[in-house]
Amino acid sequence: MRLDRYLSQVTELSRSESRQMIRAGRVSIDGSVITQPTHQVDSVTQIHLDEQLLERPLPRYYMVNKPAGVVCATRDPSHRTILDLLDLGRPETLHIAGRLDIDATGLVLVTDDGQWSHRITSPSRSCGKTYLVTLKHPLQQEQAATIRQGVSLRNEEKPTRPADLQQLDETQWRLTISEGRYHQVKRMFAAVGNRVVGLHRLSIGPLTLDEHLSAGDYRALSQNEIDSF
Ligand code: URA
Repeated sequence: MRLDRYLSQVTELSRSESRQMIRAGRVSIDGSVITQPTHQVDSVTQIHLDEQLLERPLPRYYMVNKPAGVVCATRDPSHRTILDLLDLGRPETLHIAGRLDIDATGLVLVTDDGQWSHRITSPSRSCGKTYLVTLKHPLQQEQAATIRQGVSLRNEEKPTRPADLQQLDETQWRLTISEGRYHQVKRMFAAVGNRVVGLHRLSIGPLTLDEHLSAGDYRALSQNEIDSF
């Protein structure tokens, strides 16, 4: 992380005030004065502002069982947000690693570790996401085959990547996709003439929603879960 960003996260200083402090030679790392705001810091360094040692808060990682009606945004004028569900200090440092639509439910990851969330959301990593999908109409086998092979979405040139699709009952399916296009699941089923009426995310990569979490609840991730990405 850049030194100016770090400083603004662990003090009351804004980014521009942090830059001024750094350029003024008031910040040292492991005993050496650093005057470059872009200098990269890691978790093992000791950073002083004047004589004061700055404590770096440990990165935070949570899974949330998102209820319907809550938006995956950090702020919203008219709806409750995922961050409103979390009773945590410094909420402004947290962000969402992979959003869900307002009417969708299930697993959402929240963190302040940008490198970690990048591993989850980066298109080049192809992190699989599994959803329980409830459809308005029964799906024909040839429509299911189209979804599995890759379907052309409206206004997009490239078809979707191959997906795993398993039938659970007449209108319920379990779908795993490895992309995160806009409203992707709803658009995939719309492309074969159906409609998603319920969408619940069960897992992201190796991480499965904790069955003990009721809708609206959250918990910190274990070290194993953090390391699994
Ligand atoms: N696909 C959708 O259509 N909506 C979501 O919230 C997630 C995936």
